[in-house]
Amino acid sequence: MPKTAQLILDGQTIELPIVEGTEGEKALDISKLRSQTGYITLDNGYVNTGSCQSAITFIDGEKGILRYRGFPIEELAERSTFLEVAYLLIRGELPTKPQLDNFLGEISRHTMVHEDVKRFYTGFPKKAHPMAVCAAVIGALSTFYQDSLDPRNEASVEFVTYRLMAKIPTIASYSYKHSIGQPFMYPDNSLDYYSNFLRMMFATPCEDYAVDPVISQVLDLLLILHADHEQNCSTSTVRMVGSAQTNLFASIAAGVSALWGRLHGGANQKVIEMLDRIEQEGDSGRTFLDRCKDRGDTTRLMGFGHRVYKNFDPRAKIIKDACYRVLNHLGIRSRQLEIAVELEERALEDSYFIERRLYPNVDFYSGIIYKAIGIPVNMFTVLFAIGRLPGWISQWIEMQRDGEARIGRPRQIYVGSQKRSYVPLEER
Ligand code: ACO
Repeated sequence: MPKTAQLILDGQTIELPIVEGTEGEKALDISKLRSQTGYITLDNGYVNTGSCQSAITFIDGEKGILRYRGFPIEELAERSTFLEVAYLLIRGELPTKPQLDNFLGEISRHTMVHEDVKRFYTGFPKKAHPMAVCAAVIGALSTFYQDSLDPRNEASVEFVTYRLMAKIPTIASYSYKHSIGQPFMYPDNSLDYYSNFLRMMFATPCEDYAVDPVISQVLDLLLILHADHEQNCSTSTVRMVGSAQTNLFASIAAGVSALWGRLHGGANQKVIEMLDRIEQEGDSGRTFLDRCKDRGDTTRLMGFGHRVYKNFDPRAKIIKDACYRVLNHLGIRSRQLEIAVELEERALEDSYFIERRLYPNVDFYSGIIYKAIGIPVNMFTVLFAIGRLPGWISQWIEMQRDGEARIGRPRQIYVGSQKRSYVPLEER
């Protein structure tokens, strides 16, 4: 007998099916509630609402657990590579050697963008935020592959998957090159994913760029840590757009836009700007934390707090270690890292943060690494997007294949004016 919960409403007893996940997570299935009772559920920000059943990523925010397809993030971070993780997320299993070789081959074969795509960049102001440019260019790719836009055609989806994975580093690096007025670099397919990106960012046609393998490895690690995070804001956006059977390019462009926001992926840029400000003001962080706690002040400790994690974000721990590794390797003493560590220590001992269970999240230390290796601040969120791409793709594919999936269309409780009559302009 499937388990149910009983809801007593207006004297009527309603049986709500209980859905249980493989890790014991429980949900009440309320999909028939409105047709049975006329009531909907109200949940601002979907704090308590499951939008789908998914077999991709498991998070236990109370215990600080994150797993992709069952594999702990710590193990993947130590032993895997970003493209292997991308395969795992998209295909569901770790690849065999021939499968991985084929996947890498397909991705490295499609790194160039159509020459006409480059012309879009000249239309953007030099100061344009690269997230805006990337969202626009990714959306525009759909105009170049018009025969491959059917979300229900598996071959088309595979075609688009390879092209998106292959081209996003090229698209991202061109947004930077355009902003500084340097020529675009063609990809070098003999390099690994991240080394290729770094070369396109920092090499010029007159001077080559030697990729530091330690840096490339750390950046690969960061991509793994960002690769998926179940139904966060940008992923839910990708699913929502895709639920209308919109093509994958357009859905991913929407995800990039959602990620840009300062409360989401944009926080990594905001963290470094916050640390810069604290450094310039000569504050040790104490005054800044007081402002974050002040109800009359909207300042937040960026890179802290999470909707799901009420314990350490496991990614933040790994990134903090990587941060020390990179700075040691480069021989850099970072005042910003010192401030970040001080802020973290103070916050973790402060009753305001303890009571609200606010811990460092994935964005708290990543910007310090990016800055140390010379990535411009406004490109930080773009790097997040490169990492999150396989997660978005896998979630979008899972939804397209889910026989239960329907177009995303939340309800509302209307609180506006009741019926009234139109008043002509001259009588208002
Ligand atoms: N600094 C100070 N106070 C905070 C912070 C913070 N970073 N985060 C939450 N709070 C407080 C809120 O003011 C609120 O206090 P109150 O109960 O007294 O009103 C309480 O903690 C709960 O916060 P909410 O905003 O309701 O929590 P929510 O789950 O909606 O938001 C979020 C989560 C957006 C991540 C929030 O913690 C935040 O703004 N953090 C800073 C931005 C950030 O780092 N974003 C990146 C998140 S990770 C990612 O998306 C990749």
